[in-house]
Amino acid sequence: GVGPWDECFEVAVQLALRAGQIIRKALTEEKRVSTKTSAADLVTETDHRVEDLIVSELRKRFPSHRFIAEEATASGAKCVLTHSPTWIIDPIDGTCNFVHRFPTVAVSIGFAVHQELEFGVIHHCTEERLYTGRRGQGAFCNGQRLQVSRETDISKALVLTEIGPKRDPDTLKVFLSNMERLLHAKAHGVRVIGSSTLALCYLASGAADAYYQFGLHCWDLAAATVIIREAGGIVMDTSGGPLDLMSCRVVAAGTREMATLIAQALQTINYGRDDEK
Ligand code: IPD
Repeated sequence: GVGPWDECFEVAVQLALRAGQIIRKALTEEKRVSTKTSAADLVTETDHRVEDLIVSELRKRFPSHRFIAEEATASGAKCVLTHSPTWIIDPIDGTCNFVHRFPTVAVSIGFAVHQELEFGVIHHCTEERLYTGRRGQGAFCNGQRLQVSRETDISKALVLTEIGPKRDPDTLKVFLSNMERLLHAKAHGVRVIGSSTLALCYLASGAADAYYQFGLHCWDLAAATVIIREAGGIVMDTSGGPLDLMSCRVVAAGTREMATLIAQALQTINYGRDDEK
């Protein structure tokens, strides 16, 4: 049957594909790189160009909708999730990878209504994989249904994380000690691929057993959260409580047991909140 947000979903897919073409082409060209909150928090003209394309097309089609987008937020726009239909957009996730031509780069488009995530579309631009999830309708990659891993034992787990933008000695100490704790618990491995959204898509597809991070943003999480949940996985706060999209931290896993074990092993890194910046 036709759902209320089907048209929005179709437009999101088309825009994610168009954005992917722009990013793929730009990947090989010269880039002008600027920094944002830290020397490791990068932005290029392509981030802006892709965000402008996605937001302006969506505004034309859906003039009453609201937007939370990475580069608009960096320029001072407020990050608030109201009950209105809201698009949550990361034009290039993995900007540092993009700058270095490391081929793990994505476009992420999430959509929430009444503060509930309805769908997510993530385009792995270089591999031309389109990950989608719609509430109640499953998660897919290029038409193939996604299913998370059922692993519950850390000593059999492949774990993904991302470093986050803060690089001061105290933050790095906690970041490394969290990784050390999981390695002491005999995790098979810990991977850092440079894109939160794609790491979360790998988790959704069963290619890893858990993911955790401090210092990501709502636009890194929104679309991926629907995809993971629809693939049968768990997305929660690092405290073990329910996910808070604005809290800049997350644990995700194929099973609740695994997510809880990871959450219990972690020390917190405080990044503040997206809606208080
Ligand atoms: C960032 C990347 C990075 C992660 C950060 C994200 P961006 O997104 O996913 O790997 O550590 O938390 O914000 O800035 O490239 O869109």
